Amino acid sequence: MALYGSVPFLMAHKKGRSVGVLWVNAAEMWVDIEKLEGTNKPSLQMQDYIPFSTTSTQKTSTSTHWMSESGTLDLLIFLGPTPADVSAQMTSFTGRSAMPQHFAIGYHQSRWNYLDEQDVQDVDAGFDEHQIPYDVLWLDIEHTNGKRYFTWDKVKFPEPKVMQEELGIKGRKMVTIIDPHLKQDDAYPVSKRAKDLGLLVKNKDGGDFDGWCWPGTSYWIDYLNPAGREFWAEQFKYTNYEGSTKYLYTWNDMNEPSVFSGPEITMPKDNLHFGGVEHRDVHNIYGALQHRATAEGHRLRSDNTDRPFVLSRAFFIGTQRYGAIWTGDNTAEWGHLEISIPMLLTIGVSGVTFAGADVGGFFGNPDAELLTRWYQTAAFQPFFRGHAHIDTKRREPWLFGEPYTSLIRESIQRRYRILPYLYTLFWEASQTGVPIMRPLMMEFPNDEETFGIDNAFMLGSGLLVHPVVKQGASSVNVYLPPSAKWYDYDTYQPIKSGRTTVQTPLEKVPTFLKAGTILPRRDRIRRAANLGLRDPYTLIIALDDFGTARGSMYVDDGHSYEFEKGAYIITDFVYEKGVLNATSSRRVDATPALQKDVVEKLGARVERLVLVGVKGGVKSVTVGGRRLEFKSEKGVVVVKDPKVIVGEEWKIVVA
Ligand code: NOJ
Repeated sequence: MALYGSVPFLMAHKKGRSVGVLWVNAAEMWVDIEKLEGTNKPSLQMQDYIPFSTTSTQKTSTSTHWMSESGTLDLLIFLGPTPADVSAQMTSFTGRSAMPQHFAIGYHQSRWNYLDEQDVQDVDAGFDEHQIPYDVLWLDIEHTNGKRYFTWDKVKFPEPKVMQEELGIKGRKMVTIIDPHLKQDDAYPVSKRAKDLGLLVKNKDGGDFDGWCWPGTSYWIDYLNPAGREFWAEQFKYTNYEGSTKYLYTWNDMNEPSVFSGPEITMPKDNLHFGGVEHRDVHNIYGALQHRATAEGHRLRSDNTDRPFVLSRAFFIGTQRYGAIWTGDNTAEWGHLEISIPMLLTIGVSGVTFAGADVGGFFGNPDAELLTRWYQTAAFQPFFRGHAHIDTKRREPWLFGEPYTSLIRESIQRRYRILPYLYTLFWEASQTGVPIMRPLMMEFPNDEETFGIDNAFMLGSGLLVHPVVKQGASSVNVYLPPSAKWYDYDTYQPIKSGRTTVQTPLEKVPTFLKAGTILPRRDRIRRAANLGLRDPYTLIIALDDFGTARGSMYVDDGHSYEFEKGAYIITDFVYEKGVLNATSSRRVDATPALQKDVVEKLGARVERLVLVGVKGGVKSVTVGGRRLEFKSEKGVVVVKDPKVIVGEEWKIVVA
């Protein structure tokens, strides 16, 4: 049952075959999933209605029963055969995820509400004082003049531009909330003009629908109407959104839509949209179209030079083309931390890869242990934002004292170090549709032991993360698929594969590096993500049994659309027979001149290689005959400053 979002998609998998089905239907929908033990077939009664079921002689089978409020049966079947193939096939139809702004994959700090400009300044300064990087400060509904979006409370926020510029100068951004309900007020131009232009959702009798939400009686723009979306997009122009600057991005909340006075807290099903379509037929796409119109507004205001960043609560098939989503109002309880993993895995498999859950839990007050474990977990999830309800106690990362401040700092810093890897995964998702955060079965589709695992996940194909989500847990039982070899990500020491118990003192986040991976990192910690874009890289080279590893890295300017013209670098790294080779062979779309220019603008030095799992001694490491300094201990060889540039082609020889 959809709460905030709905992607009517199912992926089924058994050894050797994955399939997917997508029911293209935007009406309210329920799906029953029935697991059948033994060789039982689904009950006859159920089977009559079941569109597809597996009823073989397998030990367990699963039947699903799909019910929609209305609409036609428009069903797509994706034949795989691997889970990655299903993702590729599904997203070739629903769209690949938009390449995000680089800052947006950093850490976001939100709360309902940062009170005023002074509060914003203090929180911002708190991050610097405690040396915790973050990228975006968020303002919830209280920043507005009486919940009129696109306006400011002039007493609390008299100088919004100055406030944003102060953040902007430090490399940071701001997000304001812009909900879809518009206060009924003729003195509020957004609402008045939308009404005058006839762009509102209508009630069953054809009058403008009015309902109750945060500002009191409100109207809703009809985003199904292209003119409604265009009008909405226009509102983001700097000339229309007073007090906005290029440092300001957007959060679309309550867009399911949430209507306090409506049946089931939403719009009546017989409300009318563009073309006379009833709300019942389009309920689940409404919010996604607001998300789309906002993203279009961001493009419009920048003349298509700046990529949008919009977080939405509602989502639908194809939302990945517009921006990020989060899982809505969770609670500061261990069970809610735990379930964030299967929720985000499911959402990712459904194509919407840029997703996260409120860190710390929205309702209630997390204790220091829960908050710490939440940061540790979310630092490896695609969208990473702390957020809290207005009635909760303050919980900025440094408020719990030691050791918690240091542990939270370390989690956030761990996130920032792997940004080059994460950004590359976002690029891959934009090209192939494979989610960033993946169930283990997606990477190990022939390993039946992985099929039921939803308390651990793969971040790309190189990192396996098994977060601690239970209070006081002193150990976790981890499954490391035996078809690969694994290293502990913190110590670089090999770990036995299969089922294994890992001790988890509070500082430990069980994370494992798959042998055969080359993982690019930036180990210098800056205040914000974009400040590090040209910082030197560390390459972690985790060798498999054959002494080989490979990886790639995608780099662009982090914010514009120049990458669409080929202004990016993809470097492939291959380590084989003691030679690390870097090539940019896949950049076929750029002219030599552009390529040179891009390397000049975006290239950065490699400052360290960490070779993991090296067998036997190393006598020398050379690049073009030049000998490099290195240290070797317990199979880990750290090579200092090879002075090679990412974007250029080079070879490093380890003998
Ligand atoms: C509901 C959202 O889910 C929550 O994140 C937000 O803080 C409140 N609305 C107030 O805007």
